Amino acid sequence: MTQEELFKKLIAHCKEYGFIFPSSEIYDGLSAVYDYGQLGVELKNNIKTYWWDSMTKLHDNIVGIDAAIFMHPKVWEASGHVGAFNDPLIDNKDSKKRYRADVLIEEWIAKQDEKIEKECAKAAKRFGESFNKEMFVQTNGRVLEIAARRDEVNRRMAEALNANDLVELRQIILDCEIVCPISGSRNWTEVRQFNLMFSTQMGSVAEGANTVYLRPETAQGIFVNFLNVQKTGRMKIPFGIAQIGKAFRNEIVARQFIFRMREFEQMEMQFFVRPGEEMEWWKRWKETRMSWHRALGFGDDKYRFHDHEKLAHYANAATDVEFNFPFGFKEVEGIHSRTDFDLGRHQQFSGKKIQYFDPETGESYVPYVVETSIGVDRMVLQVLSAAYKEEQLENGETRTVLSIPAPLAPVKVAVLPLVKKDGLQEIAMDLVHKLKFDHNVQYDEKDSIGKRYRRQDAIGTPFCVTVDHQTKEDGTVTIRERDTMKQWRVSIDELESIVADKVGMRQLFEKLV
Ligand code: GAP
Repeated sequence: MTQEELFKKLIAHCKEYGFIFPSSEIYDGLSAVYDYGQLGVELKNNIKTYWWDSMTKLHDNIVGIDAAIFMHPKVWEASGHVGAFNDPLIDNKDSKKRYRADVLIEEWIAKQDEKIEKECAKAAKRFGESFNKEMFVQTNGRVLEIAARRDEVNRRMAEALNANDLVELRQIILDCEIVCPISGSRNWTEVRQFNLMFSTQMGSVAEGANTVYLRPETAQGIFVNFLNVQKTGRMKIPFGIAQIGKAFRNEIVARQFIFRMREFEQMEMQFFVRPGEEMEWWKRWKETRMSWHRALGFGDDKYRFHDHEKLAHYANAATDVEFNFPFGFKEVEGIHSRTDFDLGRHQQFSGKKIQYFDPETGESYVPYVVETSIGVDRMVLQVLSAAYKEEQLENGETRTVLSIPAPLAPVKVAVLPLVKKDGLQEIAMDLVHKLKFDHNVQYDEKDSIGKRYRRQDAIGTPFCVTVDHQTKEDGTVTIRERDTMKQWRVSIDELESIVADKVGMRQLFEKLV
């Protein structure tokens, strides 16, 4: 199965089992907008808890807030979003399709990497065991030629984006002979800037309408509350403010399922530090955040950092945590050193002093900020794409299983009476009532036990508890583990503590401290 096929299957699986639906589906959906179903919302909430608690419980100098989505329009002038939150777009005159110019070039660059990989695969076949990939990549003429061209285009694109040089961006597209995937033609328009913010009107038109924006990032709600939180919480620098909430962007290229949406959710933390100490904190937060991802156990090789060459208007250093999705390594999280840009600009635009008096140095200053910013939906996609497996069993059957880390799984335990008689249902229901105070539990009595296990595997339930006739005799039940399919008996009295141990967030948190 190719990665593309796997991704298609995953999308279908998400719909079939109630994780994710296209928005307004009965009206044929709304482009790049999705709804979370009954299991999707549980997974999403667990991811949010993992992030929120790791920030606010494991760090005694980080607190949370929940700011409004609507903010004063001046916020977005001060932050630079009105003037600079743009994507360069280009249209193909034949297909009338619209693209992001930088994405077209990035895709061309990715194709060069694929070409290099193909050359390596061919050589590996030719040379057999003696093949040394590192040496081959450094010495083979064809590979060196492709790599040099790729690096040159990468450099030109970074320069053009930094200089806002739209003519040069178009020239790169022409020089690379990039064609429209729909029409196959190179009949391109000029490149122009497109602002990504959604706007709407606040107040009735008669009263004089005011344009307000749907926030394109949650971070600004934290910046404008910096003094409120610092003063009321008596916070001392360095300290952080965390927030989870919706953000909106009118993305030109919205695709790859929930990877790039027009309405999505962010988990952002702004960490306020002394000027001059931001690089040290930026490096620390890079490591802290990478550990948070790796603790999920999908494999360290699934992640990498990608340091930015083109920096956003507010940053002096930035990196992405990239995850190896079925469509390649892509950003899930950004870690940005945002300098004093935001607080400085809000001070300037509001006319209010936004400074911190540092009792240790006796100085007042505008703090510097290191931000960690992760998309909830991209985390959901990360977990689902790492978890989705189709396994061949010894008996020749295949099973689809979601190996979601137990603390994040939507349903923690399924309680299954072996048969619908002899009082087994009543015992099973008693167990459900015991476990449901602490966990999301499902009761299922329909179909054969094998079919019920498969249903739970497909939604990622880490444990099934089966009540059988022996339960009536000795008070024990069978626990079946999703990933290994191993089964063992435990006493009902121990069940609560065994389950709590296996599905609790604590096991993740212990890896972080
Ligand atoms: N406050 C900084 C900021 O917003 P960003 O790199 O633009 O930085 C941060 O966004 C994260 O938000 C990304 O790493 C990604 O996970 C998520 N994100 C951004 N745009 C998104 C979109 N259109 N759909 C889903 N997630 C998105």
